[in-house]
Amino acid sequence: MTPAATLLNWYRRNGRNLPWRRTRDPYRILISEIMLQQTQVDRVKEFYRRWLKTFPTWKNLAEASNADVIHAWAGLGYNRRALALRDIARHIVQAGVPQSEEAWLRLKGIGPYTAAALSAFAQKKRTLPIDTNIRRVLGRFLFGIPFPELKDDKRILKRTDGFLPRRGHYYDVPQALFDLAAMICTKDPNCARCPLRHTCKAANKFLSGRVNIPKRSTPAPQEHRHEGKKYPDRIYRGRILKLVRETGSVTIENVGKEIDPHYDVKQDHEWVHAMIERLVTDGMIKKKKNKLSL
Ligand code: ADE
Repeated sequence: MTPAATLLNWYRRNGRNLPWRRTRDPYRILISEIMLQQTQVDRVKEFYRRWLKTFPTWKNLAEASNADVIHAWAGLGYNRRALALRDIARHIVQAGVPQSEEAWLRLKGIGPYTAAALSAFAQKKRTLPIDTNIRRVLGRFLFGIPFPELKDDKRILKRTDGFLPRRGHYYDVPQALFDLAAMICTKDPNCARCPLRHTCKAANKFLSGRVNIPKRSTPAPQEHRHEGKKYPDRIYRGRILKLVRETGSVTIENVGKEIDPHYDVKQDHEWVHAMIERLVTDGMIKKKKNKLSL
């Protein structure tokens, strides 16, 4: 049996029952994939359900205002993605649903992973989207790299044609890889229970205890952090948006102390103003005189 066939057998018995696996609707697939890029599967389920109730179709989303979208995205973070999704919906209502990976990739806000995911899951194309999870499984399986990195994708992609079955349920292979990544091939993998252990190039290294498991397997992204602050700016921008979203209207001079218990006018005034300007420029909030609103 080929490794992919072994994997698919395992998936039939152990695969997770996830709502976005019961649809081929590109709208639903796109919403789920964008949410899954930043939030854990279990939490996404509820956000996904609520979002589809609020905006069931491309058209409903296309008609939403910035404020509608920001309200509906509350709790998910990376709010610009919500506005990007709405803009994609507007484009698709006008121009139709893209029919190829290349066509998806031309839309602003859709990267190589998402384009491949749409192609594979909505259009049943024989393609393999590579996210951190699939990279980890295949980097280990094919090349024995304990903690594969972005630069290893080229090698992985060269081998995917040989890995994916020619016929049958090749479109289930990426979903099976997500589940293997989540349940067995985790950062500190449970190789003894893995269906692919006999042909995996990394299994023996892990099983014999020769691999050091780092605290972090990927370096933290470089994010701007104001001097002396506990979190990167992204977190404080999220707090400003939450404040505006939940109160409806905020006076600018009150923002600092509301988002940071250690706010110091002298040190932090300009920093807070710059974050407000960025939110305004990104279309997330509106500024009128000394007040902020959605
Ligand atoms: N991670 C990214 N996409 C996923 C999916 N469709 N199912 C489970 N985990 C995922």
